[in-house]
Amino acid sequence: MITSGLIGISINNANTKHTMLKFEFKNPTKIKFGKGQIESLSKEIPANAKVLMLYGGGSIKTNGIYEQIKNALKDFQVVEFGGIPANPEYAVLMQALEIIKKENITYLLAVGGGSVIDGTKFLSAAALYTGNNPWELLAKRIDKGMPFGTVLTLPATGSEMNSGAVITRSETKEKLAMGGPGLFPEFSILDPTVVQSIPQKQLANGITDAFTHVLEQYMTYPTEAFLQDRFSESILQTLIEIAPRIMKDPSDYAAASNFMWCCTMALNGLIKNGVPTDWATHMIGHELTASFGIDHARTLAIITPNLYNYKFDAKKEKLAQYADRVWGIKDGSIDEKAHAAIKKTELFFHSLGIKTKLSEYTNDYKGTAESIAKRFTDRGWMGLGERRDIKPSDVEKIVTMSY
Ligand code: NZQ
Ligand code: ZN
Repeated sequence: MITSGLIGISINNANTKHTMLKFEFKNPTKIKFGKGQIESLSKEIPANAKVLMLYGGGSIKTNGIYEQIKNALKDFQVVEFGGIPANPEYAVLMQALEIIKKENITYLLAVGGGSVIDGTKFLSAAALYTGNNPWELLAKRIDKGMPFGTVLTLPATGSEMNSGAVITRSETKEKLAMGGPGLFPEFSILDPTVVQSIPQKQLANGITDAFTHVLEQYMTYPTEAFLQDRFSESILQTLIEIAPRIMKDPSDYAAASNFMWCCTMALNGLIKNGVPTDWATHMIGHELTASFGIDHARTLAIITPNLYNYKFDAKKEKLAQYADRVWGIKDGSIDEKAHAAIKKTELFFHSLGIKTKLSEYTNDYKGTAESIAKRFTDRGWMGLGERRDIKPSDVEKIVTMSY
């Protein structure tokens, strides 16, 4: 199975009492947070660099971010590459790779959300790759890449402070993760004022993605990792608190700041230290994006509640703790609290306007469960989740429950 630096999976026996697991932690990304930080971009890039500025479908041209960047980089040699689509597409990235080589680019600057940043990470690795099939980078650990920085325009993925990327290849309907210690951004600029131009749909996606990132690293089994649990619970509580504010008014700077920092903290490696992690929802969700083009976060909202119902016994202790500490559900047995927590999670997604059934996104869902299970079997992904016990046949059942 492909795992990146950020998706470390640890296995433990189901019946023993667990304590905190061994871990190593290094995150070298410099964060520059706050209003006006884009102006200081020039201080972060080597003076003699030849920069390739990468961006998406054009939102930065209408919300003023493009001008701010051009202004900040006026003394640099800058080549531009726009048009990286949501779910960064391999074929488009290969065009950017040609420019990197032809123009002798020495520094990459991603200006965008997870898709542009992930695409830039792929290019950082591809620029130094000497083989003839860059797609194979998705199966390798990347220890060194071309240096790059980011200006985040959409809080959601945490890609701005981690070393993972997810790349899509529409030709083969594949969406796969890659990563390694060589793919951390050197710096990331987080200016919460960028949030004001984000459409409702993407705000909802960002909250849902970050929320699920925390759940993937928390909803496993107890390991007496008291601090990590409370880090996770505090991110969840903060997202719940700011969600209605940011959905109502994305120019609410206080809400935008907290939203942005929650998304970064949800997946920068901090909360996974010493605890088991799941990530099965993400693995299954990527298949729904690859097959139907459903937004990443929405695929997570489809799978999460069903995966928890299916793995109820294995997860109920943490579900009950989450019910109590995050949702304030104090009464009832462990089972009752755990069931109530799954319901609350689904209602939270609904409150953001996010639907949680596959059939609400496509009519063409028949056979999806079987085909995802087959893909996992073909790739040798025989056991997902914190206990590596979610087999392709279980994936098939979870996806069927999600129709
Ligand atoms: O392309 P443009 O025109 O810029 O519009 C984008 C895009 O259409 C728009 N947008 C971004 N910033 C905006 C804005 N619109 C108005 N104002 C702004 N300030 O938002 C749309 C979606 O952008 P995208 O980058 O695709 O969204 P997101 O950040 O949710 O990234 C999703 C991708 O990241 C991967 C997902 O699988 C997916 O491919 N992930 C990456 C992870 C990582 N590297 O750690 C972890 C995640 O679990 C996830 O898998
Ligand atoms: Zn995600």
